[in-house]
This record gives sequence, structure tokens and C-alpha cells, in this order.
Amino acid sequence: MKRQDIIDKLCEEEYLQKEEWIELLDGYAESDREYAARKAREISGLYFGRQVYIRGLIEFSSYCRNNCYYCGLRRDNEKAQRYRLTEEEILACCEKGYRLGFRTFVLQSGEDGWYTDDRMAAVIRRIKAQYPDCALTLSIGEKEEDAYRKFYEAGADRYLLRHETADVRHYGMLHPPQMSLAHRKECLRVLKAIGYQTGCGFMVGSPGQTARTLAEDMMFIRELHPHMIGIGPFLPHKDTPFGKKERGSYELTLFLLSLLRIMEKNVLLPSTTALGTIAPEGREAGILAGANVVMPNLSPVSVREKYSLYDHKICTGDEAAERIDSLRGRIERIGYKIVSARGDWKERR
Ligand code: 5AD
Ligand code: SF4
Repeated sequence: MKRQDIIDKLCEEEYLQKEEWIELLDGYAESDREYAARKAREISGLYFGRQVYIRGLIEFSSYCRNNCYYCGLRRDNEKAQRYRLTEEEILACCEKGYRLGFRTFVLQSGEDGWYTDDRMAAVIRRIKAQYPDCALTLSIGEKEEDAYRKFYEAGADRYLLRHETADVRHYGMLHPPQMSLAHRKECLRVLKAIGYQTGCGFMVGSPGQTARTLAEDMMFIRELHPHMIGIGPFLPHKDTPFGKKERGSYELTLFLLSLLRIMEKNVLLPSTTALGTIAPEGREAGILAGANVVMPNLSPVSVREKYSLYDHKICTGDEAAERIDSLRGRIERIGYKIVSARGDWKERR
């Protein structure tokens, strides 16, 4: 089948077989990517009407007990600068974010043991008491089901946990043996069952990734049917085992964003920081490929550089929450509009 016919099929049936995914992703042409982007834009226009949701990202701790091979915050990276915001500091970020028009806050960190389940629940309760009209998203890694329940009962609405790759062998190339894909997938199922708006996702071009492993990702996503999907190019961090690996492809990231929009039509799909880091107009290109969310950085300026997942992560330009007006202008220039709404996932019409 021609690639554009496969894209049409994906659009109609919202499902492809593994071999079709591989055929589509292996050696695609620029014209295929444009074709997919056009379709993806039609779909996001239909569902979201050229509106772009914003989320204020609060990176509240750079401590992590894990040792993922790709990530600058990994435990064994002794050069990583560690910091941890206090509850008061986190609340101050929310206050600033609220004033700037944010109605979703994303609390993200490494897997930091200092923030016990009780401490997390306490922060969540305080934020939700102070900002009852805001959504709260957590992105704090793998926890026990009880903890996920406790956070949900405390008021958390959404949870992001990228699966990173849905291929077991590939998962093993990216993570030490203590971590398992099976557990990660289980966490995602539990999160969804509890009632969270749940997000998974992966890096594009991580070492060892192939069209076949990407096919697994797309098929896993189709099966999980998440509310949110975060993808961005892999970018090396010099103080990790993958410091000398090649970065992921910008174009492939855009192509995959479009295919995700075509498959999971009403999904919340951010144009990520990594995409904005790899190309100066990456954020806009992501929206034009079908994304409908941006997540500016609301962390205190003094710690921003320390949350270093990969080298050269942008943090002083328009991805800074305080520059939301500049970002707003950029988004408007491509014909879209940043809105203040909570931007919850909605059932399909
Ligand atoms: N390049 C790109 N993305 C990365 N992440 C972690 N390290 C890197 C890297 N080197 C992503 C992972 C993780 C999210 C918080 O950041 O997908 O889930
Ligand atoms: Fe920790 Fe997340 Fe980085 Fe893995 S990707 S080392 S879990 S912060």
C-alpha cells in the first residue's frame, strides 16, 4: 500500500497492524509527513478549533532514585545539581501561574523519596484548596496503587507517566534491570482505572529505537487509549551513558505527532520542551503538526537550569511562563490561540 493510503486507513479505522506501521515509518518521505500534518491539523481544528491549552510546569525536585541511561537527573550523575522546592515555594509558583492565566499546574520531579506520599498529598490538598478552579497534574513516576489513590483523593486530576518504549528489549536498553516495562504499563492501567486523565509517551530517536519499536509504541497507545500523550526528540546529556549518542529526528517527531493526532483524535497532545529545544520554531511546528497543548516553565528561575534532563534544555526564552505573552504572539502568528481554560479531556462527539 502507498504510505498516504495507510495514513487514510489510520484516519478512518484508527488502527493499523504492526507491519503497516513499519511500512509507514520506515523511509517515509517529506510529502508523507506533509500529508499527515494536513490531516492532523484538520482533526485538531475539528476538535479544538485552533485553541491551544497551556499548563504551568513546576519542576519541584531534581532528586531521583532511578538511573535511566538517558536522563541527566539519574541517580549516578554526581554532577547533577540537586534541589527540592518547599511546599511554600511550590505554592508561590502556583500563585504566579494563576496570575499569568494558568489553570492547570503540573507538578513534576524525579522519584524523590523525601516527598513521601503524605507530603505529596498535603501539597496537593493545599493547591486544590487554594485554586479549586484549577486542574492539577502529577508527573512523579512509579508509585504503589495506594499512593496513586491517595493523591487522587487529595484532588489530583491528571497523571503523566511516559512509558518510554513499549518494546521490552528496547526498554531494557534504556533502563537498568531494576526497572521494568511490565510495571510501567501496570502503573498506567492503574492510574486510568482510578480515574485520572492519564498520559503516556516516549522519546523519539532514543538509542536502539527502530520502526519496529515505534510500531509497538503506536499499538500500545492505541490499546491504552490515554487522555494525553507526550513525545519529544531524545537529546543527549553529556553526563549520562548516552552522552555521545545521536539526537532524535525533528522531522520524525513531527510526523509522529501527526500520526498520533490522526489515531487518537481527541487526545491532549503537547508540543514539548524537547521539540522547542531542537529547533527554534519547534513549538509552532508541533502545533502545525497536530499538537494542542504547550507547557511553559513555572519553576523558580533560580532552579530552572538545574532541572537538566538533557543538554541545552531551553529555560530562558519563550518557554518561560512569565513570557507567556510572547508565546501567545507566536502562536497567534500561526493562526492559533492560547486559551486559559483548564482544558480537560473530553469525550468524543
Ligand atoms: N532527551 C529527551 N527527553 C528526555 N527525558 C528524559 N531524558 C531525556 C533526554 N535525554 C524525558 C523522558 C521523561 C521525561 C520527563 O523527560 O521521556 O519521561
Ligand atoms: Fe529519574 Fe525520570 Fe530521569 Fe528516569 S527519566 S532518571 S525516573 S527523572
